[in-house]
Amino acid sequence: MRGDLERVLFDEPAIHRRLDEIAAEISNDYRDRELTVIAVLHGSLMFVADLLRRIPLPLKLDCLSAASYHGNAQTSGEVIFKLATASPSGGGQIALPDVAGRDILILDDILDSGHTLAAIREALETAKPRSIRVCVLLSKKKRRSREVDTDYVGFEIEDEFVVGYGLDFRERYRNLPYIGVLRRDLLEQRVK
Ligand code: IMP
Ligand code: MG
Repeated sequence: MRGDLERVLFDEPAIHRRLDEIAAEISNDYRDRELTVIAVLHGSLMFVADLLRRIPLPLKLDCLSAASYHGNAQTSGEVIFKLATASPSGGGQIALPDVAGRDILILDDILDSGHTLAAIREALETAKPRSIRVCVLLSKKKRRSREVDTDYVGFEIEDEFVVGYGLDFRERYRNLPYIGVLRRDLLEQRVK
């Protein structure tokens, strides 16, 4: 898989050093409150697992899954939600985690066009939480289709397609322990 990358951007020690810093910041900011973390699957899986183990506070974890890519490297603008833990009483309905009155921290892998996080934030706001903050591992420096305020950002990157450490291209590369830029020729192979 390493051969499919143009270059590595952040190796494992660099990611972990940055997680130590963000976790310390979050732990300090929420020291007197009980946090509810909403993880956006699947891309944030590694990030959430490694970050939360560095936060020594009582917290709850819920997961949502959202997709706006449909297998291409360009966002389609349409965001589809699925609840990771389907509730039997929900009768297959799309429901949001119970966030009323709680301090919510949304964790996502990467902020690109902004469609996904803006839609998730909007949906969670309807459930009347006490506060909402957003934490992303990566943020692309670019003009976004929708502005999203972020409270914690791991790394700012150029507008390039990256994979690894949870991030995929057509569901592959998530298990790479580091983050790198995918080779352009692989990215340009379109789904038939
Ligand atoms: P947005 O809605 O365009 O901000 O896209 C956010 C979602 O698209 C992320 O949660 C990722 O799943 C995916 N995404 C955006 N950029 C990349 C990338 O460079 N590599 C892998 N996935 C990406
Ligand atoms: Mg993806």
